[in-house]
Amino acid sequence: MVLAVTDVVGYLLLVTVNQQRVSRKRTYLMCSPEHFAVEYAINPWMDLTTPVDAELAVKQWDRLRETLLGLGHEVHPLNPEAGLPDMVFAANGAFVVDGTVYGARFKHGQRAAEAAAHRAFYESQGWRFIAPSETNEGEGDFAYLPEAHGGLILAGHGFRTELAAHAEAQEALARPVVSLRLVDPRFYHLDVALAAIDDGNIAYYPGAFSVASQRVLAQLFPDAVLADDADALAFGLNLVSDGRNVVLNSEASRLAGNLKAAGYQPVPVELTELKKGGGSVKCCVAELRR
Ligand code: ARG
Repeated sequence: MVLAVTDVVGYLLLVTVNQQRVSRKRTYLMCSPEHFAVEYAINPWMDLTTPVDAELAVKQWDRLRETLLGLGHEVHPLNPEAGLPDMVFAANGAFVVDGTVYGARFKHGQRAAEAAAHRAFYESQGWRFIAPSETNEGEGDFAYLPEAHGGLILAGHGFRTELAAHAEAQEALARPVVSLRLVDPRFYHLDVALAAIDDGNIAYYPGAFSVASQRVLAQLFPDAVLADDADALAFGLNLVSDGRNVVLNSEASRLAGNLKAAGYQPVPVELTELKKGGGSVKCCVAELRR
């Protein structure tokens, strides 16, 4: 078969159009960092000797919230509680898939009481809530890809969430769960090493995973956007995407470039203060999936 020039041009146009990513309106839950501080160290990023600028933390968090609102998304507030300095990391409080909430059960005592605050929020709003028996830190260790292989949950274990919680989540949410083993303590949650960038694809840092889990990810997501050490250490993968706009830490500039090349629109935000607690964009944002 001989292709005419117009065919080739048409094909290239099609490829370009296919690269045009489409956003979907999201509903998020966020908790103001009014009480944020680094008062204990439960991950390698938390250094009790580095001061946190509390005012700047609130300012940066406000910007993040305004950025999400500006992109057309809805943001529900969760009331912060004194004595729970990590409560700003709202992603850890539950994992919601298609109207069902699988509750969290924190590994560390310092954060245990956050689970009840999240539960109260969901129950007051009439969500179907399933209380966990196993240790798990919500969206910190679970990601949902509605269009990957018919609807897939990716789950991390190794530092916080127990493997038994993966099976419990599968029963609670009726979606297949793929267990991935995290091996580097700096990437203690799945959401600092891997993110859904749309309904069917992910970005991730292979070095955070066991060799076997890297092979599983390569098999399931051959078109994934890969991040390097610097991007991952800059919390670049701790991102929130609506399918087109990818809100990510401004320090992860190379990852932003790779996402742009893949047709996404990077939206950088500064979160230097919350990073001192070991979190960035995604940690602050839980997605409410009806
Ligand atoms: N200081 C918090 C902890 O160690 C940070 C949690 C970050 N959240 C996240 N989804 N990765 O638990």
